[in-house]
Amino acid sequence: MFNYTCLNPIAGVGLDLLSDEYNKVDDIKDAQAVLVRSAAMHDMELPKTLEVVARAGAGVNNIPLDKCAEAGIVVFNTPGANANGVKELVFAGMLLAARDVVGGIEWVKGEEGNADVAKLAEKQKKNFAGSEIAGKKLGVIGLGAIGVKVANAATHLGMEVYGYDPYISVNAAWSLSRNVNHVNAVEEIYKNCDYITIHVPLLDSTKKMINAEAIAMMKPTTVVLNFARDLLVDEEAMVAALEEGKIAKYVSDFPNPTTVGKKGCIVTPHIGASTEESEDNCAVMAVKEIRDFLENGNITHS
Ligand code: MLT
Repeated sequence: MFNYTCLNPIAGVGLDLLSDEYNKVDDIKDAQAVLVRSAAMHDMELPKTLEVVARAGAGVNNIPLDKCAEAGIVVFNTPGANANGVKELVFAGMLLAARDVVGGIEWVKGEEGNADVAKLAEKQKKNFAGSEIAGKKLGVIGLGAIGVKVANAATHLGMEVYGYDPYISVNAAWSLSRNVNHVNAVEEIYKNCDYITIHVPLLDSTKKMINAEAIAMMKPTTVVLNFARDLLVDEEAMVAALEEGKIAKYVSDFPNPTTVGKKGCIVTPHIGASTEESEDNCAVMAVKEIRDFLENGNITHS
């Protein structure tokens, strides 16, 4: 029995695990446990009652880790629980960069009611021609739960895959397909890959890791995909490079004024983990972590 609060809506299948014997409270000041998705907790006052925070997601940059550590508050995330959702959107992003799906759909929409649309389309389709991702080189930076899934799936699509992770875990190494080439220097990825996707946590050491210097090593045809965190990329430098044709496209799941509407930027509204399955998995894992901690004193995934 404990008091908990949700700072964001959390999938019902997770909340079902907190039935009547647990008290849902409206205010963090009365909570022993907090469930959070993307709400920023940095400016919140953490009450003395608070024992545990569980983030229904992978990144924990919305949580004041130092403040929690000082106060003895345990912080959990849900590693891997939304990895499929994010992985699938990475491929959507790659295909949106390779093929003019959006332009084609917009053109078709403009022909609503035109009985000759099919005939016209045959003439227009040269304007929407693209390229294939099969046979292209994909660099995956960060081989955690999401990066490994992206790397393995890409091999099945016929891509030549290169993975970089200086801290690769034994589990990740075992999960990697034999067809993924592990490189020791990230520069090899910058210099050689057609598509580069980042899957690292946002830390002081990774902030703006894709900076002007890294971008300068890339080919003018390279596409960079960012479904991890926008601050991993120096987006001002990215937009400048796109403007000058030094790089081809930047696909990001983090809308902000630097990139939205800018040449070569394809931006989605942070929906990588927004699938029914990922939301359910994250909610269930987060609630189980809280219960296991408060009821049995177990610490998993913190
Ligand atoms: C994550 O860190 O896993 C995602 O940002 C989750 C989310 O969309 O809330």
